[in-house]
Amino acid sequence: MDCHFSLFSVLFLFVVVAAAATSLEENSVLSAKSEPLIRQVVGGADNLNDPRLGAEHHFELFKRRFGKSYKSQEEHDHRFKVFRANLRRARRHQSLDPSATHGVTQFSDLTPAEFRRTFLGLRSRLRLPSDANKAPILPTDSLPTDFDWRDRGAVAAVKNQGACGSCWSFSTTGALEGANFLATGKLVSLSEQQLVDCDHECDPEEPGSCDSGCNGGLMNSAFEYTLKAGGLMREEDYPYTGTDRGTCKFDKSKIVASVANFSVVSLDEEQIAANVVKNGPLAVAINAVFMQTYVGGVSCPYICSKRLDHGVLLVGYGSAGYAPIRMKEKSYWIIKNSWGENWGENGYYKICRGRNICGVDSMVSTVAAVQTTSQ
Ligand SMILES: *[C@@H]1O[C@H](CO)[C@@H](O)[C@H](O)[C@H]1NC(C)=O
Repeated sequence: MDCHFSLFSVLFLFVVVAAAATSLEENSVLSAKSEPLIRQVVGGADNLNDPRLGAEHHFELFKRRFGKSYKSQEEHDHRFKVFRANLRRARRHQSLDPSATHGVTQFSDLTPAEFRRTFLGLRSRLRLPSDANKAPILPTDSLPTDFDWRDRGAVAAVKNQGACGSCWSFSTTGALEGANFLATGKLVSLSEQQLVDCDHECDPEEPGSCDSGCNGGLMNSAFEYTLKAGGLMREEDYPYTGTDRGTCKFDKSKIVASVANFSVVSLDEEQIAANVVKNGPLAVAINAVFMQTYVGGVSCPYICSKRLDHGVLLVGYGSAGYAPIRMKEKSYWIIKNSWGENWGENGYYKICRGRNICGVDSMVSTVAAVQTTSQ
């Protein structure tokens, strides 16, 4: 599996908790008791609550909506079985995560294992590259209550990693795009393919644990690569192909953004907020189990594994319009994902703050770009 989780003393506890959480989630008593109806809001007549509409009907809608076709009847029948299991899973997620909406997504015909293998791609390890700093502790007393880098022009359009475990490269470019915007005043979309093809940065203390294209990687090592390579090219000059079978076509003369330094942010939520406000969007890791069925709203599951398997971009935080009984006054992080604009809320995910939900506070990095004059 590409998202192998190594045991480190610090994270060992997480693993234990994660294992417990996973089995609890899968055999949840909660969900058996009462199944709150899925509030599927997309796709017009696509109402999962209508008892007259069976799984067959939803599968037909799903295939039409996402342009799915299967090679054989056998494959079709298998996918329908998986789809039905995912409908049940979405209902379970809905009862565990009532402030979000869970239902049919483009991933509804994939088993959880296929989903993890194909659409995530975070290699979880904690050893930091030699050039990683610890982010200085910032003052937190005058932070705004709501903050969103999208309103300030620091976030490029949502991209799509496709069927390739390259999430780490999108998280990396997103953070550097923001940092480069802060350093130069210009928003330039950067090349993930350069990272997928050229970045094979390894963990010095864990042989064989290296950034490896569609098989996974880590944002901190990608920052390390970018620092050593000199920078990243423009998206248009080195476009994304979604495969890692090509050779490295990096052209040093076409660098448009460079890393000055990068730092690891402490686990403290206020420090994370202070860092996003001061330094721009942050590269963060998360457990993506609820994201396979996420349709919208603020995700705040009662229980979620902290086993990190996905790299995303934290672009801000908010609180407006969110007050479920159990998390009153709590705000959420705004997360940019790399599964296209048709996933989630126009490509974005909201996850509640306060309890390191799904491990979102566990691996947070900030990058600073070199201030250039010749852009
Ligand atoms: C990182 O680089 C930025 C921009 O050059 C600089 O202002 C900052 O002090 C540096 N941070 C560290 C931790 O070296």
